[in-house]
Amino acid sequence: MRITPHSPVELGVVVVAAGSGERLGAGVPKAFVTLRGRTLIEHAIRTVTRLSEAGQLVLVVPADHAAEALELTARYELPEHWTVSIAHGGRERHESVRFGLEALHDSIGTVLVHDAARPLTPTSVFERVIEHVRRSGDSIIPVQPLVDTVKRVDADGVVLDTLPRDELVAVQTPQGFPRETLTTAHTAAHAAPASGADVPTDDAELVQRAGGLVRTIEGSPYAHKLTVPADLRMLEALFDGTVS
Ligand code: CTP
Ligand code: MG
Repeated sequence: MRITPHSPVELGVVVVAAGSGERLGAGVPKAFVTLRGRTLIEHAIRTVTRLSEAGQLVLVVPADHAAEALELTARYELPEHWTVSIAHGGRERHESVRFGLEALHDSIGTVLVHDAARPLTPTSVFERVIEHVRRSGDSIIPVQPLVDTVKRVDADGVVLDTLPRDELVAVQTPQGFPRETLTTAHTAAHAAPASGADVPTDDAELVQRAGGLVRTIEGSPYAHKLTVPADLRMLEALFDGTVS
């Protein structure tokens, strides 16, 4: 059977790209910044649609950049087995994810949420996350060991203590979930909104707060996040060293 974009698909990938990129300070939303000739949006489309499995990609972008995102997508030579939808983002990341989830087809049972700000994340990480979600039925996040010593400091920068590093990991995306688990967690969080420092910074935390089990798998140094200008130079170096 030939898989067409209109066949029911089981896999959905929500790429959140609606942040303003304040810390990068590029003058445009971060997802529209160019890294070696491609915007972060295009890097995301490229990585996700390289998956051999058919699926739906939802790009969540700032509402006032939706037309531009649509144009970038239309210009892209999409493989036949992927469809791309555009959704408007929210004020906070978790809101953008929720809007992205609302745009998923009914047939989708496995969902990955990925930051557009991690443009060089290898497709193989997506594959491993998907495989582990399906095998375990749990939520899966890719992580990296911490290489630096980690200390807790007070507001004046004075060291309070040193944290046991062997219990700490740095968390990346894509994070993968059974759809029901993630939508239930987002619905619960929406019904009882957190504020300030209590606002969850990733989807796995929402799932945990809703009582779900989150497992880790090995991430990738290439999933490095673009946050400040120095990250752009680091990502360019990573790109040059790995992709011809
Ligand atoms: N994001 C989003 N909607 C928001 C905030 C963030 O879709 N309201 C997305 C960003 O586009 C990014 C990912 O979440 O891909 C991680 O967020 P972050 O790195 O903090 O990006 P920005 O919020 O854009 O950057 P900054 O915090 O420096 O403004
Ligand atoms: Mg942010």
